[in-house]
Amino acid sequence: MQFFVDTALLSEIEEAAAMGILDGVTTNPSLMAKAGVQDFDAHYRAIAQITSGPVSAEVISTTYADMIQEARRLHAIAPNIVVKIPFIPDGVKALKTLKEDGIPTNCTLIFSPLQALIAAKAGATYVSPFLGRLDDIGHEGIEIIRQIRRIFDNYGFETQILAASLRHPYHVLLCALEGADVATMPFAVLKQLFHHPLTDKGLAQFLADYQKLHVRA
Ligand code: E4P
Repeated sequence: MQFFVDTALLSEIEEAAAMGILDGVTTNPSLMAKAGVQDFDAHYRAIAQITSGPVSAEVISTTYADMIQEARRLHAIAPNIVVKIPFIPDGVKALKTLKEDGIPTNCTLIFSPLQALIAAKAGATYVSPFLGRLDDIGHEGIEIIRQIRRIFDNYGFETQILAASLRHPYHVLLCALEGADVATMPFAVLKQLFHHPLTDKGLAQFLADYQKLHVRA
C-alpha cells in the first residue's frame, strides 16, 4: 500500500519525504486555505519539487469546459501533478477526456461504491472514497473500501483506490486489510504509525543493558 500525506504544508511534506516512506501528496482547496496559500500554482510547483510521487491538485471549476482547461493548466505545472476532479456529472465527463489526453486524475468526494464504479468506467486513475466523513454521519466508512475493492477486482479495473479522510492509525490498518491501493493521511497520523510504547520500552531496555555491560568492562 502506498502512503500519501494529506496536507498543503511544505514543512510537513518535507519532513514526511525525509522519513523515506512517502509515495505522494494530496491536497484540496480547504488544506490550501489552511496553509495560507495565495498562489496555488506556485505552491503545487513547490510540492512537486519535494516529491517525485503523484501530487493531487484539485480543480475549482465545476463545468466540463472549465475543468478541462484548468486540468491542462495544472498538469502543465509538473509531470507528477494528478488532477483532482469532483464526482459530479461534468467531472465524470472530464475524467474521460483527460484519460484520452493522458492526464492522470483523482476523482474526489466519493461516498458510494457506485460513484467509484462510474469514475473507474470513465477512466479515473484514482478514486478517493472519504472514510472519515462517512464515519462522521454514522456509516461504517471502511465498508466502502471493501465494496469498491470487490467491484474493481470483479471487472479488472486498473483505477486505484485512494482511501481518504483517514483520521487515525486504525483507519490505515483497516484500509491495508481491505486492499486499498493508497492511504492518504494527515502528517500527524503518518507519525503516529511509527509509535508503539513496547518498541520504546524495549529499546530503552536494550540500550540500558548494553550500557551496564560496557560500564563494567
Ligand atoms: C483527500 O484527498 C481529501 O481531500 C481529504 O482526505 C479529506 O479529509 P477530511 O475529511 O479530513 O477533510
